[in-house]
Amino acid sequence: MKFLVTGSAGLVGQNVVRDLVKKNQEVFSVYHNDRPVDGTPINLDLTDLEKIKHTMQDIKPDIVIHLAAMTNVDLCETEQELAHTINVKSTETLAKQAAKSKAFFVYISTDYVFDGKEGMKKEDDIPNPLGYYGKTKLEGEMVLNNLASNWAIARTSTPFGLHPKKKSFPLWVKESLESKKEINVLTDQFTSPTYVPNLSKMIIEVATKQINGIIHLAGASRISRYELASMIAEKLNLDKKLLLKAKTEEMNWKAKRPKDSSLDVSKATEILDEKPQAIEQSIPLFLDEITN
Ligand SMILES: NC(=O)c1ccc[n+]([C@@H]2O[C@H](COP(=O)([O-])OP(=O)(O)OC[C@H]3O[C@@H](n4cnc5c(N)ncnc54)[C@H](OP(=O)(O)O)[C@@H]3O)[C@@H](O)[C@H]2O)c1
Repeated sequence: MKFLVTGSAGLVGQNVVRDLVKKNQEVFSVYHNDRPVDGTPINLDLTDLEKIKHTMQDIKPDIVIHLAAMTNVDLCETEQELAHTINVKSTETLAKQAAKSKAFFVYISTDYVFDGKEGMKKEDDIPNPLGYYGKTKLEGEMVLNNLASNWAIARTSTPFGLHPKKKSFPLWVKESLESKKEINVLTDQFTSPTYVPNLSKMIIEVATKQINGIIHLAGASRISRYELASMIAEKLNLDKKLLLKAKTEEMNWKAKRPKDSSLDVSKATEILDEKPQAIEQSIPLFLDEITN
């Protein structure tokens, strides 16, 4: 199988490419600024829609895993045109090319397509994004819905893992508490934190088995930022008193964020061999990874 992976040096993408290469798959790693370590690197700015077409025609992948996105939710509010081009137009161009050559297309979407008024959303619940990032990701989903081809939309939530540039929330908590720094942690924002190695394997399973439709690929636990930080402090025997309880309304954010964007993962739990991990399982694995 020939894979084309966008966002290949990002938090999730670098793990996906590494796992595919380990499985001896042929992988073309599309990147913009950061050159990926694994796969055959292809430099491609996804705002260049003509170049996307040529790249797809040259490579002719069997499977496309589209992870690249403008993921900074506050920047998406102020740079809406760029966010729309990267998150919607590039998705549309890639997906149309994939459909022409009958390639299977996996689009990684987000829990932020929901408004978060209530959590544990299922695949067929009605999205209602609060911010521009969520709106563009939902529009990306709709592009696929309108294509009569083979695709999967995999929605995830708060991925965490090791990355040379991106510091995940659990690592930020660990490092802050170790340096005896007080940190504000939200008590009223709930998500389904997803360990990147677990997510990567689930994405690859969906891609290789060509599982059609929408699927939630996230951690199996709904948890607040504060509860998660407390869990990390307890596991590492660090001072929980340094965790200061904070509320979303105190944050000076440009973009509105859903209060409860947890995802129901019963479909993935039922049909995949790689099951969504509960937080009691994934946090010790991550802490092991960062301490060893
Ligand atoms: N992070 C989250 O909290 C979260 C939550 C739910 C869903 N998701 C979704 O999961 C996917 C992966 O997220 P992630 O956390 O791995 O993101 P990430 O670390 O921010 O990586 C995003 C990738 O997109 C690439 N990209 C951005 N603009 C580009 C452009 N113009 N041309 C080519 N590539 C471009 C970046 O490449 P360069 O750095 O080289 O520009 C980067 O590798 C995204 O689709 C995101 O929407 C993320």
